[in-house]
Amino acid sequence: MKAMCVVGARPNFMKAAPVIDALRRYQDVQVMLVHTGQHYDHQMSTLFFQELGMPKPDVDLQVGSGSHGEQTGQIMVRLEPLMKSERPDVVIVFGDVNSTIAAALCAAKLGIQVAHVEAGLRSFDRTMPEELNRILTDNLSDFLFITELGARKNLKREGIAEEKAFFVGNVMVDTLLKHRERASALRVSQKLGVQAGTYGLLTLHRPSNVDDEHTLSEILDAIDDLSKRLTIIFPCHPRTRQRLSTGAHAHLLTKESEGGRVRLMMLDPLGYLEFLSLMADARLVLTDSGGIQEETTVLGVPCLTHRRNTERPVTVEQGTNVLVGNSREAIVAAADKALTAAALHAGVPDLWDGKASERIAAILHDRLAALSR
Ligand code: UD1
Repeated sequence: MKAMCVVGARPNFMKAAPVIDALRRYQDVQVMLVHTGQHYDHQMSTLFFQELGMPKPDVDLQVGSGSHGEQTGQIMVRLEPLMKSERPDVVIVFGDVNSTIAAALCAAKLGIQVAHVEAGLRSFDRTMPEELNRILTDNLSDFLFITELGARKNLKREGIAEEKAFFVGNVMVDTLLKHRERASALRVSQKLGVQAGTYGLLTLHRPSNVDDEHTLSEILDAIDDLSKRLTIIFPCHPRTRQRLSTGAHAHLLTKESEGGRVRLMMLDPLGYLEFLSLMADARLVLTDSGGIQEETTVLGVPCLTHRRNTERPVTVEQGTNVLVGNSREAIVAAADKALTAAALHAGVPDLWDGKASERIAAILHDRLAALSR
């Protein structure tokens, strides 16, 4: 059996790593890894491959940045001849980025089986590019691996045959549990001069938050307020750095408190292990990422999400996640509540146990072997 895994952007790498490992344990499975090059920086890509011990991609399509149509189209143009010549039995795609839909569409049109890892999540907000990628990828997929049970209902509602969906747990949690101790030994906050358990960790990159000047100002004003109480560490995504480089917000980014404490510490994007170390030791995480909502739930760290909806409702129902939107007032009030609340009673969702990728590999191995008989 030949499996082609296609990855492209930062949140794909930690999902693909354990699946590749699990597939490679089967001697009759050949795994090929294709990087679309959607993310290409050392900090956004290469570093993750190194830290996660991933094999070097067999092929790098080097598409780079561009508009959605351009990026998605270019990935397809470059993938099609490769899929035609390699003829994999299955193409495995991850998450909801442009590389995911491009690879799924390319494979489906060539009659190749498509497996989608992290299927069935829905924010019900079609203004998010990721939501369109999710809906379309799921509709094209033959194997839909789901992380939470609500996803099954979402797929059913869209008319996707129930037997295609497999509840396997969360591959990102496989990676987190595997690397947690190594990450914690790095003691990144200490190296930054901030005591564990006393700081907030911020990430921000969603176009709806950072491309709109008013929204970005509301969030940064809230962060400014909050930074009077605790240091905020802010590893900054390239998209956000570009927006901030205009200077309109510079005064917020360089302040120190009276005692000489740095209020907001802006950093370049961090590697997987460094970020995990900071997340595990944070008093509070503030984010608009999808994956971080899940990771904080597993770590038991309070998470405020700067969005009005989430495609990962289990993190709110069972985990530590609170949706706070993006108004200054709401963020400050929610942060206040989180900082003064007694200990959290959050649980870890079903099957987020570190074994999701083993389940995926076993299902693919058995089903594809049966098909070829
Ligand atoms: C993409 C995903 C998003 C995911 C995010 C994580 C889509 C539609 N979006 O958004 O779901 O949460 O990745 O980061 O696929 N850039 C660099 N270096 C890089 C890559 C990008 O500097 O290695 C800059 C470029 O200026 C680029 C911008 O970041 O224009 C945005 O990159 P892009 O891949 O278009 O989307 P993300 O915002 O990263």
